[in-house]
Amino acid sequence: MVDSYQPLDHELALDRDCTTLSRHVFQQLQNFGPDAQDLSALMNRIALAGKLVARRLSRAGLMEGVLGFTGEVNVQGETVKKMDVYANEVFISVFKQSGLVCRLASEEMEKPYYIPENCPIGRYTLVYDPIDGSSNIDTNINVGSIFAIRQQQGEDLDDSASDLLQSGRQQIAAGYILYGPSTMLVYSIGKGVHAFTLDPSLGEFILSNENIQTPEHGPIYSVNEGNFWQWDEGIRDYIRYMHRHEGYTARYSGALVGDFHRILFQGGVFLYPGTVKKPEGKLRLLYESAPLAFLAEQAGGRASTGTQDILDVIPEKLHQRTPLIVGSREDVALVESFIQERAREEASVAVKT
Ligand code: AHG
Ligand code: MN
Ligand code: MN
Repeated sequence: MVDSYQPLDHELALDRDCTTLSRHVFQQLQNFGPDAQDLSALMNRIALAGKLVARRLSRAGLMEGVLGFTGEVNVQGETVKKMDVYANEVFISVFKQSGLVCRLASEEMEKPYYIPENCPIGRYTLVYDPIDGSSNIDTNINVGSIFAIRQQQGEDLDDSASDLLQSGRQQIAAGYILYGPSTMLVYSIGKGVHAFTLDPSLGEFILSNENIQTPEHGPIYSVNEGNFWQWDEGIRDYIRYMHRHEGYTARYSGALVGDFHRILFQGGVFLYPGTVKKPEGKLRLLYESAPLAFLAEQAGGRASTGTQDILDVIPEKLHQRTPLIVGSREDVALVESFIQERAREEASVAVKT
């Protein structure tokens, strides 16, 4: 009887080194049709953007004009870092002459950017946060890029891009790039969540984790407790519960991508609730919360505003913000339970008065 063939070590290594992002998309879709070709090419372009940003970050301390502020304030009312501008332009550049993407909607641009030569044929829109966690850049702490791909619906004849104001369930792909000790690209096209690690010697993102599943529960809670005084009582009750019960540990980096990445792999919950100053929350729906919510659900987790699934929220404006509670199913539900309990108490008080 012929023994089953045992591949040689170098054949295994070669197969691993050849599992690039574009190949993985085809493996996922099990076909080479036009849509699969498009998605594979789209992911390839995003990978190129990630490599360009990673390269600049890796030498930022040695180059003029990379770190620090531009002196501008963006549509978010936030001061802009030079890396925000650079990364924003990188994503635009990699999609020119792609024939794929007609519009790019970015955290850094008030209106979407149109690439006219792509528009007649390019039916995709990239929504993205070019650098997430900008406050970390100048001190060499991890930052990320967040992206989602949506199919353009209709002709957008008035350049309002109003077809983007739809729920996160319209996303056909989503992911992020984490610029950490290694550069990782994590993505989903609706068939699970998969992570690729940049091999600088190859200049390729190589598959490193397939079908990532977030544990039902994890010990980590990730929140900026400096905002405690600004939170609703329900969130405060949850935090008090964390402080009074064994088995929880706090981790918070100031960059959503890194904090989410830890939760995705190890379980737990990240939350950025509404505050007195920003009742609707700080994080933006279209290119921060919705892409990560897509990943969270694909990995068996959840993402909520506290009262509604993030993926069901329909934005009224491009840069709409939302509270975000995302991570393990049990831990997201625990946060929601404190919000609901407070709401019940407040409702019963209201009835009595
Ligand atoms: P960005 O740098 O794209 O503006 O995003 C920063 C966000 C997010 O990355 C992070 O979780 C959050 O801001 C941190 O906010 P605080 O500094 O208020 O905690
Ligand atoms: Mn961000
Ligand atoms: Mn940003």
